[in-house]
Amino acid sequence: MDQIRIRGGKPLNGTINIGGAKNAALPLMAASLMTAETLNLSNLPHLVDISTMVHLLAELGVEISMDGNAPNGGHIGRALNLRAENIPGHTAPYDLVRRMRASILVLGPLVSRFGEARVSLPGGCAIGTRPVDLHLNGLRELGAEIELAEGYIQATAPNGLQGGKIIFPSVSVGATENLLMAACLAKGETTLLNAAREPEVADLAHCLVAMGADISGIGSDTLTIQGVDSLHGADYQVIPDRIETGTYAVAAAITGGDIILKGCGIAQNTAMIDVLRRSGVTVDEVEDGMRVHRTTGALKGVDILTEPYPGFPTDMQAQLMALMATAEGASMITESIFENRFMHVPELCRMGADINVHGASAIVRGVGHLSGAPLMATDLRASVSLVLAGLAAEGETLVSRVYHLDRGYERLEEKLSACGADIERIESK
Ligand code: UD1
Repeated sequence: MDQIRIRGGKPLNGTINIGGAKNAALPLMAASLMTAETLNLSNLPHLVDISTMVHLLAELGVEISMDGNAPNGGHIGRALNLRAENIPGHTAPYDLVRRMRASILVLGPLVSRFGEARVSLPGGCAIGTRPVDLHLNGLRELGAEIELAEGYIQATAPNGLQGGKIIFPSVSVGATENLLMAACLAKGETTLLNAAREPEVADLAHCLVAMGADISGIGSDTLTIQGVDSLHGADYQVIPDRIETGTYAVAAAITGGDIILKGCGIAQNTAMIDVLRRSGVTVDEVEDGMRVHRTTGALKGVDILTEPYPGFPTDMQAQLMALMATAEGASMITESIFENRFMHVPELCRMGADINVHGASAIVRGVGHLSGAPLMATDLRASVSLVLAGLAAEGETLVSRVYHLDRGYERLEEKLSACGADIERIESK
C-alpha cells in the first residue's frame, strides 16, 4: 500500500487550482439514470470515488464516454457523457456499493424511472453507523414498497411514485438528494421539509432543472417539486469543491504560508473562513478565488461546532483540529453530525498534540509545535488532517493507508509540492 512521506516545517507559498466538488459530482452522475438522453457533465475531479460511480453506472447499463481533459482556468477537469438509454438490470451490487456509501444515490433515480431498484446496503467511511432510514422512509412516503433482504434494499413502485410531503426528522444531504431525484418523476407535487441546504444539493437541483425538472425553493430547507413525465439531456458544470478549498486554506494557515486558491467561491465557505479569521489567519477575496495567509503572529484557539450547511462542515473538522493543535490556547471542537469521527485524535496525539475527547467534544490544548511520526490514515478527512499536521511538524511524517486520500483529493502531493512542500508518495511494490 502506498505511503506519503512529508518533511515538515516549510511555509507553503503559491497558487492551487481547486477542482470540481466530489460530493456534487456523485449525485449528478446518479441523475443521469433519470433520462434516456445524454447528460454531459464537466469539471469532474479525477478521483477514486468518481471511478467507483462510473463502474456502478456502467454495471447498470449506462453508456459512458470521457471527453478527455477539459481545461478550466488551469484546472484539468474531466468531462463525462452519460447515457442511460437502455438499463436492463436495476441492481446495484454489494461489491461496488460497499466501496462507497454514495452509491445509495442510484436508488431514487432507479425506482422513480423504472418502478424498481435493488441496491445493496452501503458501506463507506468508518465514521459511525450511518443508517439509510431517512432515504427509505422518504421513498415509502412517495408510495414505494421497501423490503430489506440478504443485505439488499428492494424498492418497488409498479405504478410509479406519487408526490407527497416528507418532513425529514434530521438533516441529511444524501436523503435530500435521493428524494429530490425521486420526486422529479413522481406524479403530482412533493414537498421536502427540513431539507439539506448544502451547495451540492442546490447544484443537483439546478442540474435537474436543466434536465426539465420543476423545482422551487432551491437553496432553502423547503423544496417543492412538481413531477414531470420525463427528463431530457443537459450540459452541466460541477461546482468547485469547498472541502478541497478549506483543506488547502488550512495548509497555508498551519505552515504560516501564503496561498492563492483559484476557481473557488467565498460565498460557500463562509463558516470555514470565519473560523480561520478568528484564529488569526488572513483570508482575502481575490479575482476567481481567495488568498489565505498567515505570515506573522501565532494562531489562536477557536471553538468549533459542526452543523448542517450553512454551519461549519463536518468534512473540515479533522483539518481544523490539526490547525488548533498548533495554536496558542485551547479550543473545543464539537462534532454534531457523525458519531465516532475523532479517529484522527490518537494519531495527532502521537505527533505531540494535546487532545482529550469527551463524548462528542474534543478539547484541544495548543502545543505550538508538533513532531513528525509514522501515522495510520483511517478515513478520508482524517487522513488529510494527518498530512496537514505533517506539513507543520518538525521532522519526518510517514502516513500509511493513503488510499483513503485518493478517494477525495486529486493530485494532492503535486499540488502541495508546487507550493514548496517536501512531500512524496512512496509507491508500494
Ligand atoms: C454527505 C457527504 C459527506 C458529509 C455529510 C455531512 C456526500 C457523498 N457525502 O454524506 O461527505 O460528511 O454529507 O455533511 O455528499 N443519517 C441517518 N439516516 C439516514 C441518513 C443519514 O440517521 O438515512 C444520519 C447520518 O448517520 C449522519 C447524519 O444523518 O449522522 C448526516 O448524514 P448525511 O447528511 O446523510 O450524510 P451523507 O449524505 O451520507
